[in-house]
Amino acid sequence: MRLLIFGPPGAGKGTVAQDVTSALSLPHISTGDMLRAAVASGSELGQKVKAVMESGALVSDDLIIDLVRDRIAQPDAAGGWMLDGFPRTLPQAQALDAALTELGGGIDKVIMIDVPDALIVDRLSGRRVCKACGAGYHATFSPPSTEGVCDKCGGEVIQRADDSSETVLKRLGTYADQTAPLIRFYESRGILERFDNTGSAQDTVAKVVAALS
Ligand code: AP5
Ligand code: MG
Ligand code: ZN
Repeated sequence: MRLLIFGPPGAGKGTVAQDVTSALSLPHISTGDMLRAAVASGSELGQKVKAVMESGALVSDDLIIDLVRDRIAQPDAAGGWMLDGFPRTLPQAQALDAALTELGGGIDKVIMIDVPDALIVDRLSGRRVCKACGAGYHATFSPPSTEGVCDKCGGEVIQRADDSSETVLKRLGTYADQTAPLIRFYESRGILERFDNTGSAQDTVAKVVAALS
């Protein structure tokens, strides 16, 4: 199955994708996670994208398209995947279509994770992530059992550099301008399904898994 998980910053894409992909045994491919790993490693790519990410803007289409094209050509992606955070612009969506035409087949479903903007600021200001394995937490809603320590791997749990309230507002603006138009793009193909994530994340995961089974 080839799936996209789509929605505004902080809606819960990563949280839901983590459990849905483990239930369905699909690779979870998050462009945000890939870019943050590049920044952490200090690679050439990481040095190029660090400031852009911290500002709440998008990195260039060419760069991200190359990254995703390489990733979905890896052997573990042959049986399908869930892409998280890509595509985010019309040129990215068109490039994905072209890459899939080459590989044969298309996108099976777009899972849209929806929450109102007011909730997003709360969720992102409390968000914490494991520096080592990427597991997601929330300071109030789902803290790790020991503060600052990942339940899954013992790694350090930190706050993301782009989760200050000022940058969150910029990311919401970027989403509204550049990414939200893709809702119509996929809706018109009849493959987009909306899931409200204002309740518990476990409920949302169960609904998504049921819709895909
Ligand atoms: P990216 O990492 O993709 O960030 P984003 O889209 O802003 O989304 P987030 O990861 O912030 O939110 P999420 O929806 O995954 O929410 P989460 O599950 O963590 O991108 C970062 C940057 O990289 C971009 O700004 C850009 O610069 C660059 N980039 C990435 N992809 C790109 C692309 N394709 N093109 C160009 N640039 C790109 O949940 C948030 C919090 O809420 C967590 O604390 C979680 O525990 C909590 N939570 C989740 N669900 C619930 C619930 N039901 N109830 C209570 N709390 C919940
Ligand atoms: Mg995410
Ligand atoms: Zn961890």
